[in-house]
Amino acid sequence: MKTNLLKSSSVTAEQQPFLSDIKQLRARARSNIEQGAITPAYQGDVKQNIEILQSVLATEIVCVLRYTMNAVTATGISSESVKEEFTIHADEEQKHMQQVAERINQLGGKPDFNPEGLASRAASQYVEAGNLVDMIKENLIAERIACEHYRELISFFADKDPTTRVMLESILEKEEEHASDMHDLLVAHQGDPMLDK
Ligand SMILES: [Fe+2]
Ligand SMILES: [Fe+2]
Repeated sequence: MKTNLLKSSSVTAEQQPFLSDIKQLRARARSNIEQGAITPAYQGDVKQNIEILQSVLATEIVCVLRYTMNAVTATGISSESVKEEFTIHADEEQKHMQQVAERINQLGGKPDFNPEGLASRAASQYVEAGNLVDMIKENLIAERIACEHYRELISFFADKDPTTRVMLESILEKEEEHASDMHDLLVAHQGDPMLDK
């Protein structure tokens, strides 16, 4: 054990070029303490990334509102199971909203919950559908937009901000599930899918 420790401590910096010197790392972390989670190793443009996340936040808020409204107003034969699905989705969208807001805060930004301009900041739309099938369709469209948007953002963040990327990957996984749920509901209530899966 002792021999191993001695051995590892004798490894020179040149032999481990990918490791930052721990003392330097700590000193940098301490001197930039006011920047919160942002360290010099952060490769992204923080301001731009916060802006992008504000639009993701708006998208999630719109999704919470749309699913909640749908869950409350869905009527008709066999609407109970659809209402239940809408409610589950509303809860999950709310979790996404929370996650994104927390990340903006970690990056030093102020999550924008201002209702003014919300619709224009969001990637997905808030559409009031008149009947159950149209509600399902609108949700399917919104989910597909979110999936496409998040896929792009995942490759944008890549290694520049892995924490944000991993968060978006987990959100995307849920959105794909949501799209699939809406697709299945559409098939069940309309008989055929409006969009190819
Ligand atoms: Fe979401
Ligand atoms: Fe979703």
